[in-house]
Amino acid sequence: MRPPRPVRIAPSILSADFARLGDEVKALEAGGADWIHVDVMDGRFVPNLTMGPPFVSSLHKQATRPLDCHLMMVEPERWVEPFARAGAHVITVHAEASPHLHRTLQSIRAAGCKAGVALNPHTPEDVVRYVLPLLDLVLVMSVNPGFGGQEFIPETLSKTAALRAMIDASGREIALEIDGGIKIGTARQAVQAGADVLVAGQAVFAGGQYGRAIEALRQDAAS
Ligand code: DX5
Ligand code: ZN
Repeated sequence: MRPPRPVRIAPSILSADFARLGDEVKALEAGGADWIHVDVMDGRFVPNLTMGPPFVSSLHKQATRPLDCHLMMVEPERWVEPFARAGAHVITVHAEASPHLHRTLQSIRAAGCKAGVALNPHTPEDVVRYVLPLLDLVLVMSVNPGFGGQEFIPETLSKTAALRAMIDASGREIALEIDGGIKIGTARQAVQAGADVLVAGQAVFAGGQYGRAIEALRQDAAS
């Protein structure tokens, strides 16, 4: 039997109090966050507008953990360089927003970052098959992107399992991240399906006790 895969918890800074950004980052890191997930929304690809490179640059000054930047935007290729310069560790673009995905992934790596592809709930896993050699991460959206605090879409679990099989068969080191509606119960289901990075917004922030919430997710994931 394969040894259990280590699971990383990536709290989404979208649910933080932006006026207290530095303190929020410190509290997440003290609470055991493995990565800081950064939800970039452009008001076009998704019906919401959030942060840009200057925000990431401010985060970078405060954070010691990797910044996991999820670009929910049209023409993400135009923004690879600015986010890389701002201190992104991972840059993930949406397959639906990138007609020349192969080239975009090459440019993310050329900028010195880890390259990820995100899939909306309706997008089949097959879109990543021919770019696996360029990938460090696949992100399964388990809600429709745009907002925190939504209900987990259970149909995304079988896609997660299919991606796990594809990644394992490739023999490559590719993280499998799941994002949206992750809380006690869905964390466990996602990890059983093969996810090894869990993004969590409301589940970490809502109770105000970040360390306790992160630990509870870890326990659920291991159960
Ligand atoms: C949704 C974002 C998610 C979101 C997760 O568009 O990509 O990262 O902030 O928030 P929760 O965990 O509250 O669903
Ligand atoms: Zn996200």
